[in-house]
Amino acid sequence: MKLQLLNGMFFSKHKIDLDHDKILQEVRDSRHKPKESTHNSRPHYKDPYLNPDHLFYAGSNLYDETYYTLEKEVYKLINPIFGEENLIQDAMWGHLIAPLDQTTVHNHRDIFNDPPGLSWAYYPHHPENAGQIVFVTNVNGFDKNIRVTPTTGDFLLFSNTLLHFTPRNFSGEERVSVSGNLSITEKYRKYLYSDVDYKDPYWYYNGKC
Ligand SMILES: [Fe+2]
Repeated sequence: MKLQLLNGMFFSKHKIDLDHDKILQEVRDSRHKPKESTHNSRPHYKDPYLNPDHLFYAGSNLYDETYYTLEKEVYKLINPIFGEENLIQDAMWGHLIAPLDQTTVHNHRDIFNDPPGLSWAYYPHHPENAGQIVFVTNVNGFDKNIRVTPTTGDFLLFSNTLLHFTPRNFSGEERVSVSGNLSITEKYRKYLYSDVDYKDPYWYYNGKC
């Protein structure tokens, strides 16, 4: 009997080496003391059109210094895996979950960006009982939830099409993480179309189909 994989989808876990406490403070400050920045990944939570039910309510537009510090680390991590100038750091935002709050099921798919890209989540801290990140997959029509408990410095890389949520934060303190989206360059898209044997690591994240 020769078994062959029909479809496979993975996420990967890495560590990044940063001053996590500094990032943690900067992300908190970016929410409570917002500054002008050169990117606008998320609206401010006090924007009148944003109500607390909106997913973006937990998001915070990062200070430029935080954005560029993390962007550098992201390229250091992804370029050796996917090659230079194949994935571009796009939106990046802080994610702040108050005690007893949670995040509903969502993915990071950009409907104008085809083919699917990648997303990441970085944890400058992760208090005890702050809730996991849960990836929602489907096997034979049944949901299969993969629960991951992050620790400080963890960097998770996954498909931007992958549904996920974060359960209630029982830690008693605000839970802070940073998320980002990586889009695919035209050069990479063309290469992936020609990669008929699915050799590129991209396929581990977005499925071999
Ligand atoms: Fe998310």
